[in-house]
Amino acid sequence: RWKQSFRRRLATWYTKHERDLPWRKSRDPYRVWVSEVMLQQTQVATVQGYFERFTAAFPTVHHLADADEQQVLRLWEGLGYYRRARMLHAAAQQVSRELEGKFPETVEELMQLPGIGRYTAGAIVSIAYDKPAPILEANTLRLLGRLVALREDPTKSAGQKLLWGVAGELLPGSEVSRFNQALMELGSLVCTPREPKCSECPAESLCQARQLGVLEELLPTTKK
Ligand code: ADE
Repeated sequence: RWKQSFRRRLATWYTKHERDLPWRKSRDPYRVWVSEVMLQQTQVATVQGYFERFTAAFPTVHHLADADEQQVLRLWEGLGYYRRARMLHAAAQQVSRELEGKFPETVEELMQLPGIGRYTAGAIVSIAYDKPAPILEANTLRLLGRLVALREDPTKSAGQKLLWGVAGELLPGSEVSRFNQALMELGSLVCTPREPKCSECPAESLCQARQLGVLEELLPTTKK
């Protein structure tokens, strides 16, 4: 079964290629959340330093909740999208004051918080809690779109709906945290927007775009 084979190959590849990134040192939902919000708008290389400084200044959701907005915005300076920093601060206050600092463990509950959409909620549930939840962000959107040779535009809602379905069907029965991170890593290191490194890809023989010779037509699927 190709899904089983995909999971196995991805897992083996990730063992060799996992990058040592600061947010991978812990499964703390607070840290997963901060890193994913930063990564939605900014490259990994830039986020690393911001993430280290931000979590050093605010080591827990309570510290962030109690900080004043100017201090939060100062640490965000250069990342852009300041509205995200304000929503991060507002959500931290809600988690700290109404939920005793405990992040919800379901996608539905997490999505009630300011600034937490389906992707960020899925990332927290899967990466921090290791519970089954699909994720779809720029890297996995591109990778999965190619894997199934999606004909719909993946930036439009019909295409996204299909890819959320693919992301859900591919989820393994265990080690979802590792699986989702491996998927993003493969998208970011190998299944790149331009000139993807298909010869280094563990899923090359399973990739429909590659098999059908339509990879060029699907390029580039998203900007980032
Ligand atoms: N892009 C978005 N989330 C990421 C993560 N957790 N690791 C690497 N790249 C990412």
